[in-house]
Amino acid sequence: MARVAIVTGGTRGIGEAICRALKDAGFTVAANYAGNEAKAAQFTADTGIPAYKFDVGDHLACLDGCARIAADLGPVDAVVNNAGITRDGVLHKMSFEDWNEVMRINLGGCFNMAKATFPGMRERGWGRIVNIGSINGQAGQYGQVNYAAAKSGIHGFTKALAQEGAKFGVTVNAIAPGYIDTDMVAAVPAPVLEKIVAKIPVGRLGNAHEIARSVAFLCSEDAGFVTGSTMSINGGQHMY
Ligand code: CAA
Repeated sequence: MARVAIVTGGTRGIGEAICRALKDAGFTVAANYAGNEAKAAQFTADTGIPAYKFDVGDHLACLDGCARIAADLGPVDAVVNNAGITRDGVLHKMSFEDWNEVMRINLGGCFNMAKATFPGMRERGWGRIVNIGSINGQAGQYGQVNYAAAKSGIHGFTKALAQEGAKFGVTVNAIAPGYIDTDMVAAVPAPVLEKIVAKIPVGRLGNAHEIARSVAFLCSEDAGFVTGSTMSINGGQHMY
């Protein structure tokens, strides 16, 4: 029987590309989304992949959402923690809400989804968790103390949980994308983005599918000996 994968923030951007790549790799895929109903409906119509609405920053909503997915599709074998938001601003102008919301969703979401699915993977002796970090969690970024802290936290979370999963056949890895051509990056003011792109050795933004294929590899049988690792995919912008 096909393995079941959940991709958070799966109906748009990098998440959508990951859903498509996992489906191509033979997974039965469920996409989670937070609120964009029109895009979620379009995504399901285009891909045939069901979309489940819940807030990954809400612990009980994650437990309930993952239970619904397991009831519909079967036990969850793989989770890709991709959902994330930005609330950019320099620290002296950043509100506590903008700090907290980014931590709650970007980092808290990884904990919530793992709590909902890791115990089952551990019991069944097979699992894959892939967390989407960021170059800005590795290198920092002006105007992103919240986002950089959350993404940096994801990298630590990954290495810690990898140690807990290793002897149960559950791998936990991270991918640290650089600047990818998505709505999130398009929201960066154009003059700022131009300066950033000028510093990318490959000379362009990345494409979502350039992240997605690597996620599919980390979720595959072939990647069973890869755990606790971070794959940087950033066009050479930051070599780590
Ligand atoms: N390094 C040093 N100084 C910088 C700087 C940088 N990278 N960026 C801006 N500054 C300076 C400016 O030159 C300016 O200085 P002066 O006042 O002396 O001219 C000062 O900081 C204020 O700059 P802004 O006018 O831009 O300030 P703002 O308050 O209007 O906006 C900001 C600040 C919101 C941080 C804005 O600069 C911004 O959006 N930056 C982009 C942040 C970014 O890269 N976000 C990534 C989003 S995509 C993502 O996160 C995906 C991923 O994983 C990669």
